[in-house]
Amino acid sequence: MEEWEILSTDSKLEKLCALHTDLTDAEVQLLKHVASSLQMHADLTDSYMFIDCQIKDSEYAIVVAEAFPKSNDSVYENSVVGKIVFDTFEPGVFYSFRKGKKSQIRHAVTQEGHTVEQNVVPIKNAMQQVIGVLIQEKKVDVPVVYQDERQPPLFGQESIEYVLGDKNDEMPAISNLLMEIFLLTDDEDKLIYANPVGVKFITEMSRTEEIRNMNIIDLLPFLKTVYDQPEDVFVFDLTVDRKNLIVKKVRLRKKDRLTGTLLIIQDITELRTKEKELKMKSVVIQEIHHRVKNNLQTVASLVRLQMRKGVSEESKSYFEDTLNRISSIASVYELILAKENADDDDVNLIELTEKICSTMVLNELHKKVNLIIRPNGNKILTSSRKAVSIALIVNELVQNSIKHAFPADMAGEISVIFYSTQDFLELHISDNGVGIKKPKSSLGLEIVHNLVVNDLNGEFRYLPEDRGTHAVITFPVSPEVSIFYEKEDIDSGG
Ligand SMILES: Nc1ncnc2c1ncn2[C@@H]1O[C@H](COP(=O)(O)OP(=O)(O)OP(=O)(O)O)[C@@H](O)[C@H]1O
Ligand SMILES: [Mg+2]
Repeated sequence: MEEWEILSTDSKLEKLCALHTDLTDAEVQLLKHVASSLQMHADLTDSYMFIDCQIKDSEYAIVVAEAFPKSNDSVYENSVVGKIVFDTFEPGVFYSFRKGKKSQIRHAVTQEGHTVEQNVVPIKNAMQQVIGVLIQEKKVDVPVVYQDERQPPLFGQESIEYVLGDKNDEMPAISNLLMEIFLLTDDEDKLIYANPVGVKFITEMSRTEEIRNMNIIDLLPFLKTVYDQPEDVFVFDLTVDRKNLIVKKVRLRKKDRLTGTLLIIQDITELRTKEKELKMKSVVIQEIHHRVKNNLQTVASLVRLQMRKGVSEESKSYFEDTLNRISSIASVYELILAKENADDDDVNLIELTEKICSTMVLNELHKKVNLIIRPNGNKILTSSRKAVSIALIVNELVQNSIKHAFPADMAGEISVIFYSTQDFLELHISDNGVGIKKPKSSLGLEIVHNLVVNDLNGEFRYLPEDRGTHAVITFPVSPEVSIFYEKEDIDSGG
């Protein structure tokens, strides 16, 4: 090793070329010629100069000559002559080798981990073949806030990388784009950095322009609780001057010694105001639902009162029909109001059907009729508007089966089944009763027909059956009617 170190620059170059390359004598002479002026270039441009040659039969290059500028702090502490150079670290070098062209990289990170500006030019022989490359590397000043006192950037204009001493300053100043307030204080809680919104925030809150290096608690006394908190990482919810703030505190430590505190503050006042407005709106909607439900109950009471005052046996059934219709609409509002989260007014169709049918069956206790509701794994949500129509339809059809299909004490079964495809929902209401003998349309079926066609944009028909009746309602899925498939389940209801 020692023997190597006392060799002259020229001899080192010759030896390395003989050992690692296929270069001819003339080519080595050419490289020596270039190397002879290397020191001069280094001193003149205050940069590091190298000559690299490609190692024969390999992807790598080797440093064959170097010159360091005569200055104080150096990027390279030791000689790198004889060192192998890898593509991933020095893409510029290999670019020049392959393309025979000049390469310039503004912020190259060298194999030694330094950030440099790198210029590479190919060295060519008489036949214009690349025999080596000449490299110039200039140290890039990575600004560090505590050292670079000569020209400190404007307060609030520094990037967070600058402040935190991150060497990769190719990054855009992210902190300038953020809506969040970024503040950095030193170990004595003095403000050493604020991003632009941070500067604006502090000057507004403290009513002073003099904020740099001031104690943060003096500037923003409400942060005292934040700083007093012993935890290193903590999130606070603060309300100051009618502002809602989320303050995140991160203590920065180096080997257990506190070096500073990073604060990230989000002003969520606007968000909170919007939240309140939304809550107000949903309160109003809730109130309207309540009133609708109460009004329907009042109407139902009036009808019941009228019935009790004495009506003929014949008109009694008409009053009952009306009561059922009113209560099926009321079911929709009861379901909406019973929901935990009453913000939306979506109604679960299966629940609605169960509710309507159960009240109906209760009213017809004397009948030996079994009622089956089969969702087929569908969970169907509809708007309250559509739900009212569907409630009325289910009411009419199930009511018909109860009223007409099973005369006297005849036993039987009524089923309500939901089928769905990608785009359509099918509602089948069938019974195994006597069946419709002579079809005569009265108010009930007219209501069903009108609601299906006009309100659900659907289709209503009876399927021919040997026994009983089988009504089918088909209507499209829409923003107001959505279906979620749940796992196939067993029959529910009954
Ligand atoms: N499931 C059924 N089983 C047997 N007959 C039925 C069935 N559904 C309907 N019908 C017959 O069709 C007729 C028309 O029904 P529709 O619902 O329009 O009138 P309604 O039930 O008689 O009176 P309302 O207007 O109060 O409903 C009924 O009167 C009945 O004769
Ligand atoms: Mg009817």
